[in-house]
This record gives sequence, structure tokens and C-alpha cells, in this order.
Amino acid sequence: MSPTPPAEPPQLALLRERLGGRLAFGGDYNPEQWPEAVWPEDIRLMREAGVNLVTVGVFSWARLEPSPGRFDFGWLDRVLALLADAGIAVDLATATASPPPWLARRHPDSLPVTADGVRLWPGSRQHYCPSSPAYREAAVRMATRMATRYGHHPALALWHVNNEYAAHTDACYCDRCAEGFRRWLRLRYGGVQGVNEAWGTDFWSQRYGALEEVNPPRRAPYSANPGQQLDYRRFMSDAVLECFVLERDVLRRITPQVPVTTNFMGLFKPLDYWSWAREEDVVSHDAYPDLEEVRPELGNALASDLMRSLRHGRPWLLMETAPSAINWRPRNPPKGPGLMRLWAYQSVARGADAILYFQWRASRRGAEKFHSAVVPHGGPDTRVFREVSRLGAELARLTTVPGTRVPAEVALLLAWDSWWALELDSKPSTDLRLLDRITACYTPLWEANLPVDFRRPEDDLSAYRLVVVPNLYLVSDAAAANLVGYVEAGGHLVMSFFSGIVDPGDGVRLGGYPAPFRDLLGLRIAEFWPLREGETLDVVLADGPAGGTASLWAEDISVQGADVLARFASGELAGAPAVTRHRYGSGVATYVGTAPEPGLLRALLLDAAAAVGVRPPVADVPAGVEVVRRGDALFVLNHSGSEARVRLPGRHRSLIDEREVLDELVLAPRGVAVLVEAPALAPGKTISRSA
Ligand code: GLA
Ligand code: ZN
Repeated sequence: MSPTPPAEPPQLALLRERLGGRLAFGGDYNPEQWPEAVWPEDIRLMREAGVNLVTVGVFSWARLEPSPGRFDFGWLDRVLALLADAGIAVDLATATASPPPWLARRHPDSLPVTADGVRLWPGSRQHYCPSSPAYREAAVRMATRMATRYGHHPALALWHVNNEYAAHTDACYCDRCAEGFRRWLRLRYGGVQGVNEAWGTDFWSQRYGALEEVNPPRRAPYSANPGQQLDYRRFMSDAVLECFVLERDVLRRITPQVPVTTNFMGLFKPLDYWSWAREEDVVSHDAYPDLEEVRPELGNALASDLMRSLRHGRPWLLMETAPSAINWRPRNPPKGPGLMRLWAYQSVARGADAILYFQWRASRRGAEKFHSAVVPHGGPDTRVFREVSRLGAELARLTTVPGTRVPAEVALLLAWDSWWALELDSKPSTDLRLLDRITACYTPLWEANLPVDFRRPEDDLSAYRLVVVPNLYLVSDAAAANLVGYVEAGGHLVMSFFSGIVDPGDGVRLGGYPAPFRDLLGLRIAEFWPLREGETLDVVLADGPAGGTASLWAEDISVQGADVLARFASGELAGAPAVTRHRYGSGVATYVGTAPEPGLLRALLLDAAAAVGVRPPVADVPAGVEVVRRGDALFVLNHSGSEARVRLPGRHRSLIDEREVLDELVLAPRGVAVLVEAPALAPGKTISRSA
């Protein structure tokens, strides 16, 4: 079972109170793009659609502070009053995501600089350097003004700091950031000698005489020092986090009763969301599943599970999703009928307590005018508005869902520093990408409806029956000991290749790979053997005729106590172990030294899960049907293109439409059911069909 989460911050009581115990429903409201005469219609339509929470002010800075130090809050006063009168709560932005043009004019050095030394211009958004004192001061001043003016406003339910930090400017390489980096290095390593040691600067004559000589990994003739690159990633995540913390501290001081969030972007590489999440009161997330993917719902499930995991199982807020099309991929088709609803329920099933859209009313001008909105250019008499309104009415009925949790018995490990280090240049293969590997491991578990929590390698894992460790290239001593201890105490762990290779400074752990896990796994690896593009190897299972292929990677494994589960059957390593299993202490450690084809990996992972008694909430569900238990509700989602019949022994009641389901649920394509066990059949009521 998922571990007991830390106590919920008391501030969340305000949000719950403003929402009256319902799931939040609404979206980004940008009234500054419209004449005031439009606002009353917005409010009327919001009520019609069942909206109870809107995010206001995300891109309003230039309106709120038209020139330095001169503020104009009149229009926002009127917007918030309208919303308060209508009983609609507000997630109020601090408005610091896009500085007004005057900031760049007055402080050109507040603009970010690329690794090539190009200073980016204003005129889009997120054009600020996270280390810029001018930006930081102006942002803190803005947050202070917002908090003092609206801290006790009856509509205020939540603070929305900035917006999608680092989405566009994921790193800045300017001189100020260089100074910040040196301060950060001094704290981490004490001084220049520590840096020299950690980065191995005797390589290529990189030894520094003073910290002042150290720079960000700016464009150089050839590969930059990996330690320098890795530490710059760490520093940048921290530097951007400082911007968040500066604003949050202002809000906490002035409005200690109001919860604070900033919106995340799923598995977003530049920011270490583990360290970010603990600084906010509630996790919020923007989800834009890619309609060009074969199964966009897979990525949506994975990101949702991560969001839930970031605060140890606590509910999170879907801060943004598109009601239909987006505008920023090469091709942007709409979501077909029912798809938006299906994915919204998927988010709720996996822990979301809010479904909020980007955005409320479709922009008439600007870069996002072809992005869908709840109120399209055509107005409310449109499919999108009708589908959103219908969903709003449905979600309002799920009053027992908010606050409940999704139990999981499988943990998948994710560490940002290992991700960064793994994908630096100069590796055995550039084809090895962590997201691909995580997705490969997550997919069969998701397909089998086995809930997964993400955890960090250092976390207490004792509550999980199975721990999956995809390609954990970098490990600290503490993390390595934690994983070994988990198995020793009886846990089952499945680790994939190129794990445990380096220490936190990206220095190779010596003595034979993977040094910290050799005893645990009962093996030793002499050489990595990455495959050519498109190359596959045959793999045969030791205890049967079945087998399959593997791609991407192989390695020269010699077992030292482990049993061989599968061997390579072609190529240079023919006959050598590919997958092994080792009893260690009271537990078992399985090692996968290659990238098996999906069917093979599925068999390995599902066998491991079955061996430790991990079971889906409902057995024998047809392919394409997702089932998730959240609290006492069973969410059943039909992602397949055809009608699905799900055997559900007993009697259930639908929370969406109060009908009863007896033994079998029939779901139309993209159909959804949210069911609770029903003790007795109300006379005259049956159902076998749910939309
Ligand atoms: C992001 C941003 C929004 C908007 C949407 C469009 O999530 O936060 O402001 O640009 O993308 O999809
Ligand atoms: Zn900078």
C-alpha cells in the first residue's frame, strides 16, 4: 500500500470551503483580453457550465503595473467582485510569468541569455533571467501588492504563483547566473578545490585556480565537463525555485490562510519536481496529451500518477487542459466527441481534485487564438461548450471523491539528477532516453490496471510490494543502500540496465559495474554493448521455448549467484545472460540487461507483480479499458474504439447518473463509469448500459 502521506497543510481548508466540498471545475479566465461588457456574459456562462474555480491574472502584469511602481487594480477589483457575487472562487495569479515591456527596457540584463550568449528579446513571454535582481524585486513587489489587496477577498481560494516555470526558458547562461552558480558551488563544495575534485578537472586541463574562473556550461568547442553540466542543471532548478519561494514567502507572510501552488508540466526535465513539490501546498499540473500519439491516454495516466506521487498520494489539481484542440504542435486536431470527458475522468481517477481548462474564452488576437477554449469563437452554441457544461454537471455529483486517495502497491523510481546525468553527451548510446524507458516499464503495469506510485530512490519503500527501477544511472550511497535494504528486508525489485554506474558527481563507481548493486543482483557487468540503430537481438527464456527480441542495449553480464531468466540468442553476446534473478536477504532482485520487446517486458513485470500478490482492482478487464480505484469509487474508462463489456460481480451504483449496475457494465466507446458498491437493489431499477 502507498505510505501514509504527510499531514495536509491547513491552508487547503480554505480551498475546500470555497469549493463547498466539490471537485473544482473551471479554467484560466483572461478578462483583460475583452471589453468589460463581455464579463457579465462570461459569469452567466460560467454558472451555466458549472464552473466553481477560475484562474485569474496569469498574464496581467502589464495591465496591473502599466509603468514601474504605478498600479491599476480597478479592473481586477471589478472582475473579482463579479466572480465573488456569482459564488465562483478564484485561483489568483501573482501575474509574474510575463514581465511588462518596461522591465526589459529599464533592465536589459533581466532578459535571459542562451548557451551561445544570445540575449533573448521580450515580445513573447517568460523573458526573464531567474537570477535577475530587477526581475526578482519586481516580482516580489507584484506578489506583495496582490496579497495585500486581495488577501481577504471573499473570492480568493488559492494563490497561483507565476506560470509553468521554465517552460520556455529552461536555463539562462548570463553573467548573473554565472555568479549565482559560483555561490551555489561554494555552498555545495566549500570552494574551488571541492569543485575540481567533484568534476575531475584534471581531465583536459580544466583545473580551476579560483571559483571566479568557473562559468556556466556555455557553448564550447567540444563536450563540456559532465560534472559542470550536471551541476548547472541542479543549480538552475534551484535558482528558478528560489523565484517561486521568494513569492511564496510573501504570500505566506501576508495571507497565511491561503494555499499556494504553481503549475507543473508532468515529466518536465528541467525542474526537479520532487524538491519543488515540497515547497507548495498543493501540486497542480497542466496536461496536454498529444493526439498524434497512438495512445495519448497512456502519457496522461503516467503524468497523473507522478503528480499524485509528488506529495505522497495527496490529491492534485489539473490546472490546465485543452477543452479541444491546442495550437502549439505541428498539427492540432480537436478532441473528438467524448474524448475530453474521458481524459478528465482519467485525471480524477488518478487523484485530481480539479478539472480546469486553458482557457475560458477563446482569444481573438495573439499567438493562442486557435487554441480551443470553453467558450469558442462561435460562442456557447457549440459542441465544446455543451460537452464542458455536461461534464461540469456530472462532476458536481461526485461529492464523495474529493480528498480521497489511490492505493498503489508498485513503486517506480524517478530521480531528476540521474535523468540529467543519463542524458548528458558522451555515453555508450544517445538512444537511451529516460522517458522512453520509464514509459516502457509503466506501460504493461498500466495496461494491467496495476496502480503505480513514483518514488525517489532514497524514499522509504517498505510499503511497496514491487519496486521498479528504470535505468537509475546515478545513485548516491544512501540511495544504493536503501535499495539493497529494501530487498534484504523482503522486497522485490526489478532493475533495468545502466543503473548504479556513477556517483552524484557523475564519477564512475569502480570495481565492475554496477558497483553498488553487484551483490544485490548477484552479477557483474564487464562492458556495455549498445545496439546499432534498428538492430535487434534474439532473446530466449531459460525455462521455456518462448522468447522474443531486444533492442537498444545489451551488456556483457557474468552471473555471480544470480539465476539466468533469459539469454541473448544472437549477436556478439549470444549465450550470455540478458535477464537474471537473484535471491538476496529475504527478497528478490531481477535485473534486465537490455530493452526487451514490449511483450517480453510485460511478461517479466507482470510475473514479478503476480509473484508478490499485486492484483488489479477488477480481474479480466478487456483490453483498452482502464480501471482505477480511488477511495471507494471504481473508475472504469473505455479507451478502446469499441463497446466494452466489463464483468463486475455484484451490485454497483453509478455516481454519475445514480443508476445501478448488476454483474456487468457495458461501456460505449469513450464511455465512463464511476461506481460504488451498492448494498441492495432499489426496486424497479436496473442498468447494464452507461454512456
Ligand atoms: C500552457 C500555458 C498556458 C497556455 C497553454 C496553451 O499550459 O500555461 O498559458 O499557453 O499552455 O496550451
Ligand atoms: Zn541569467
